[in-house]
Amino acid sequence: MKIAENILYRLAKGWKSPVAKQKTELGENPDSDEFHLNYAMKKQFLRCSSTGFPYDFYQKKVLEIGCGHGGISTFLIVNGAKEVTGIDLNTFHLDIARKFKAKVEQDMNIKPENGFNLEFLEMNAYDMKFEPNSFDLIIADNVFEHFMDTAKVLEQSFNILKPGGQLVIPTFNSIYSKYGIHLKHGLKMPWANVFFSEKTICNVMIRLGKEDPYVASSYPSLKNNPQKIKDIRKYGDLNSMTHKRFCDEVAAAGFKMKRFKINPSSKSLVKEALRLLYRYKWVQRSMFSNIFSVSAEAVLVKPVK
Ligand SMILES: C[S@@+](CC[C@H](N)C(=O)[O-])C[C@H]1O[C@@H](n2cnc3c(N)ncnc32)[C@H](O)[C@@H]1O
Repeated sequence: MKIAENILYRLAKGWKSPVAKQKTELGENPDSDEFHLNYAMKKQFLRCSSTGFPYDFYQKKVLEIGCGHGGISTFLIVNGAKEVTGIDLNTFHLDIARKFKAKVEQDMNIKPENGFNLEFLEMNAYDMKFEPNSFDLIIADNVFEHFMDTAKVLEQSFNILKPGGQLVIPTFNSIYSKYGIHLKHGLKMPWANVFFSEKTICNVMIRLGKEDPYVASSYPSLKNNPQKIKDIRKYGDLNSMTHKRFCDEVAAAGFKMKRFKINPSSKSLVKEALRLLYRYKWVQRSMFSNIFSVSAEAVLVKPVK
C-alpha cells in the first residue's frame, strides 16, 4: 500500500499542472473580487462567446441551475434571452454574479431603469420554488457531477419546464473521465482513480496538503483527514456520476434525450474515431467511454403530450 502511495506522490509532485495557466490568467490573489470577476468574464462569459453557445435561447425564458459566478447567465441576457434567472447555493458566488451583472451593464452604458432582465437567487436545485411549466429552457453547466440527488434535480426541472422545453447540460464529467475526480490543483495527473485506490488518493492528498499551502487552501477539508474522494472537496459535492447512470436517470425522469455527446480525451485521428464510436448507445454506457473522455454534453426535451 505504501508503495502505491509513494508512486502516486512522486507522480503528483512531478506532474505539470493542468491549471497553471488559470492561476496567472485570473490574477494573483484568489481571495479578491477582481480574481472572481475575471473568472466570470474569462471562464464563463467569453467561454460561451467562443463556442457561440449553440442552443436556442433567443427570446426564451431561461433558468440557469448552479450559475456560480454568473457569467453564463449574463452572456445569455446580453445575447437575446428574454428573461434569465440564475440560482445557486453559494452566496459568495451569487454576490460575484450580481457584481458581474452590474459591471457589464455599466460597461455597456445601460441605465439602471433599463437594466438586464436577469436575477440571481439563492436556491437549492433540489427544492426549486418556481411555477410548473414556467421555463422554455434550463441550463445546467458543470453541475451534474456535483448534485448529490440528480434524480431530484431532473424531476424538478421536468416539472418547471414548459412542454417542449429543453434542459441543456453543456458539460458534465463521468467520475472515470480524464479529470473526473476534480483534484487538478493537488494530484494534477489525470485518471488517478483508474490506477489507484480511493484510500491511496486520499492519503497522498492529505500529505500534499500538509506540504503545500496552495493545495491546503484549494482543499480546506484535507485538514479533517478525509477517507473519501468526495470529502476532499470543500462541499463534499462529487456524486460519482457515470454515463450509464446519467442516461438511466434521464429516462426515469421522463425526458427524451435529444443529444448525448461524449467528448473523447485523445487527439486528432483517434479522437475522430472515438467520436464515431461514441454514437452507439452500448458504447456510451460502457466503462471505455467513461474513461476515454474529458466530458459529456446532453440536451433533454420535455415531451409535448
Ligand atoms: C463547478 S460550479 C459551475 C458553475 C457554472 N455553471 C459554470 O459552468 O462555470 C458548480 C456550481 O453549482 C452550485 N451547486 C452545487 N449544488 C447545488 C445545488 N444543490 N443547488 C444549487 N446550486 C448548486 C455550486 O455552488 C457551484 O457554484
